[in-house]
Amino acid sequence: MTQDSEKRSILVTSALPYANAPLHLGHILEHTQTDIWVRYQRLYGNNCTYVCADDAHGTPIMLKAEELEITPEELIASIYEEHKSTFKEFKISHDNFYTTHSEENKILSERIFFSLRSKDLIDQKKINQLFDTKKEMFLSDRYVKGSCPVCHEQDQYGDNCEKCSATYDATELKDPISVISGSKPIIKESEHLFFKLSKLKKEIINWLNNSNIQEPVRNKINEWLQGELRDWDISRDSPYFGFEIPDHKDKYFYVWLDAPIGYLASHLNYLKKIDAESNFEAFWKPDSSSEVFHFIGKDIMYFHTLFFPVMLSESDFKTPDGVFVHGFLTLNGEKMSKSRGNFISAENYLTNLDPDYLRYFFASKLGTGVDDIDLNLEDFKQKSNSDLVNKYANIASRTARFLNKDFGGVLSENLDQPELLEEFEEKAKTISGLYEKLELSKAIKEIMALADKANQYIDSKEPWVLIKDESNKDLVHAICTTSLNLFRIITIMLHPVIPGFTNKAFEFLNENNIAWENMETPLTGCKINEFSPIVTRIDENHINNLLGN
Ligand code: 2FM
Ligand code: ZN
Repeated sequence: MTQDSEKRSILVTSALPYANAPLHLGHILEHTQTDIWVRYQRLYGNNCTYVCADDAHGTPIMLKAEELEITPEELIASIYEEHKSTFKEFKISHDNFYTTHSEENKILSERIFFSLRSKDLIDQKKINQLFDTKKEMFLSDRYVKGSCPVCHEQDQYGDNCEKCSATYDATELKDPISVISGSKPIIKESEHLFFKLSKLKKEIINWLNNSNIQEPVRNKINEWLQGELRDWDISRDSPYFGFEIPDHKDKYFYVWLDAPIGYLASHLNYLKKIDAESNFEAFWKPDSSSEVFHFIGKDIMYFHTLFFPVMLSESDFKTPDGVFVHGFLTLNGEKMSKSRGNFISAENYLTNLDPDYLRYFFASKLGTGVDDIDLNLEDFKQKSNSDLVNKYANIASRTARFLNKDFGGVLSENLDQPELLEEFEEKAKTISGLYEKLELSKAIKEIMALADKANQYIDSKEPWVLIKDESNKDLVHAICTTSLNLFRIITIMLHPVIPGFTNKAFEFLNENNIAWENMETPLTGCKINEFSPIVTRIDENHINNLLGN
């Protein structure tokens, strides 16, 4: 049991989705992993706040708004509503979903910039960049194409060659063409601001040594640290959609500067909403006992493990206690691709199936590795039916009938095999340790082994045979009560993963205040409700509909 004094105070984030497109199942994978951990922490009795936001700045958002002939503000406002509602439908329990285009984020970004500048960590340098004279804007690497300066392969982006893997500066491209206007860009000089990352190697190593980082991620960071750490360009020229940099007219913070600060801004906004704004400074001070964990995909490790921790430490904020990295989501073994038809939108999933099936499937695949996760639809169907329907829900449906019909929906005062419950409670310690370490697939395996055990118990007792003899009535009552208590323990264990299905189960069990520790106190002698199916089977049609066939 978690005493108030031992309660951890945890802030958790998922990466902020860009506010220029609908969410896809990759976002849902990440938010589900985060949400399961958050729900587990809350169930265990810790104070766990989960914040996120839309990442609303940058050139792609500016250009998308232009294409739609609306303002960037209008674009991000409409995408915001869409994202918020999709996350809600997938039962992602954000305490706050905000936007980086906010007053809080502007103030915090400026505060961090001023701190870094006062510590002489901001440099000013002139650089050459490709400039689109037609569009009157500088072109970032993704907006310019040309021939590779090394192997001469055509149609390559401005940062690296897909054919020979050479990396280069966009100004080195042969015959460059602006992707935006189709015109030939010129090379133009501009003054940029740089965060002097090269001076902060010691601080990064210090952070790394004191944080919770998966082994493969740690290895990657060490690899980066062994190479040269280049200073980081944090400014962009107008036109740009973002925050203008104080004292630097027409220069804007690069979107990746203010995006992670958006985590703090969303937290601050949440504290304001719950009338606890004054807790913000104490929570974020360097020696605070609070904990902060970021969940991200492997493509954005660099920003979260090299730039962000030292941006915080050098501005007198606490640094992240851990960064949890996951791999990408593939569909039936291949990269998801809309154009190749190998794609399921979050919306299409929701019109066809309950999110809990997918949450369960993701949990059964996720561990602490950074390998990609494959959503194999046959495997998905099979796992949903065999684990959730045949193993889990079956425990309740096999015994509920007797309790509702023969015992007036009231549980017995007696348990048939209390030692079985004790065995389950003992296993709960292992399972909570697995949740804590984010070993979700291992936790699921352990929980399903318990479900097998519960079913074997019912098989061995054969209450449907015993009930035929009136003299066995008390025994059958105790057996069904025991089975239902085993079901209840498993329900509590699965609650972070499939909150929709388990809430139906708790309704049947007539239980409100759900906590991990409740499993130590069995339900006896109390009234339960009429049983109705908790999980139904997935069939071939559901799967075909997902793919839009
Ligand atoms: O890669 C992305 O989708 C970014 N929008 C993630 C930002 S996470 C954080 F740093 F804001
Ligand atoms: Zn090349």
